[in-house]
Amino acid sequence: MKIAIITDKSRMDFLPSEEAFKEDEQKRKTVEEVKKILSKKYDCISLVADDNIINQLKTEGVDLVFNLCNGIQGDSKLAQLPALLEFANIPYTGSSILGHTLAINKIYSSKIFKARNIPTPDFISIYGLEDLKGLDIKFPVLIKPNDEGSSRGIHQDSLVFNMETLMEKVKEELQIYNPPIMLNEYIEGREFSVGVVGNGEDIRVLPIQEVDLSQLPKDLARFYSFEVKAYHKDKVLYHIPAPLTQDEKELIESTAIKAYKALSLRDYSRVDIILKDNIPYVLEINSLPGLMKGKSSLYRMAQATELGYEGLVLKIVDTAIKRYSMEGEFFKNPTIVSI
Ligand SMILES: Nc1ncnc2c1ncn2[C@@H]1O[C@H](COP(=O)(O)OP(=O)(O)OP(=O)(O)O)[C@@H](O)[C@H]1O
Ligand SMILES: [Mg+2]
Repeated sequence: MKIAIITDKSRMDFLPSEEAFKEDEQKRKTVEEVKKILSKKYDCISLVADDNIINQLKTEGVDLVFNLCNGIQGDSKLAQLPALLEFANIPYTGSSILGHTLAINKIYSSKIFKARNIPTPDFISIYGLEDLKGLDIKFPVLIKPNDEGSSRGIHQDSLVFNMETLMEKVKEELQIYNPPIMLNEYIEGREFSVGVVGNGEDIRVLPIQEVDLSQLPKDLARFYSFEVKAYHKDKVLYHIPAPLTQDEKELIESTAIKAYKALSLRDYSRVDIILKDNIPYVLEINSLPGLMKGKSSLYRMAQATELGYEGLVLKIVDTAIKRYSMEGEFFKNPTIVSI
C-alpha cells in the first residue's frame, strides 16, 4: 500500500513573517517524523499540495493520503484538500469537508453545540460596529475571530471589561479578520485539551491534558493568548493525565466525544474545554490538530499511553483504513483489504 503525506505549500513564499517561518518549520519537521514512522510499514512519499496534486497522486499510484494540509489561501482552508481528494476518489486520513468546515467556523460549531445541549460559552456575532448598538452585554468579554487558529487574533487585550474598549477592539478586529467577529462569554476555570481518536462506537480518548497558566508573569491575563503561545510557552505547564476526579474525567471525556460527533469529525481531533463549576464548556475543536514530535499536545498525550507517538501515527492510518473498509469503499486495489 502506498501512502502520500501531503502538506501545504510554504507560507513564507505566500506571506513572509516570523509566524510563517515557524509554521513552515513545524510542517517540515512533522512530515519528516511521520514519514519515518510510516515508511517502516508502508511505501511512503511526501508531496506538497499544489495545482497538480491530483495528477501526481495518480501518477504515483497512491492508495491513501495522510492529510496534513491546513490550507494557505481562501475561506475554505482545511476543507480544500479533502474536497479535491473526494472529487478524485482518493481516500485520506482525518475529517471530511463537512467536519473541517464546521470545526474551523467557531460560530457554526457553537450553534451546533448549543443545539445538542453541549455546554459552550454564550456568544454574539458582530458583522459591523452598528451591531453593538443597544446590546446588553455582561462583561468581561473575550473577542475572537470566527475562523482563525493558533490564537491568531486572540491577544491579551482581546479580553475587555467595558463598552469603550470593546468597541475599539471590535473595530480593530473587523479590519483584520473576516466578519463576523465573535463576542464570547469569558469562562474562568481550568483549561483542558482532549485528544479523541476513532469513529463510531470505536472512539478512544487519550489522557486529558491540563494547560496550567499559573506560572505566567503576573501582568498577563490567565488565558492561552497569542502572546502566551508565542513568547511565554516555557512558562506553560502541561499536566498529563490531568489531575481530575473520576467523575470530572468521565464528564470531560463524554463531553469531548459528544462534541466530536456533533461536528461529524473523523479519525482524530483535539477538543478544547474549560471546566468551571463542574460544567465542561467546549471552546472549539481542532479538526487537524498538530502532530509535531516533541511539541504538540497529541504527541504528549500519546506518549502517556502504550501507543506512544509512533503508535498514534499508525493508529490514524489504521482508523482511516478501517473507516473506508466499513463504508465498503476500500476500494480499487484488492491488496489493501487484507491490512
Ligand atoms: N470563552 C472563553 N473563555 C475563556 N477563555 C477562552 C474563551 N475562548 C477562548 N479562550 C482562551 O483563548 C484560547 C484560544 O482560544 P481558541 O481555542 O478558541 O482559539 P484558537 O486560535 O482556535 O486556538 P488553537 O487553534 O491554537 O487551539 C483558549 O485556549 C483559551 O485559553
Ligand atoms: Mg484552541
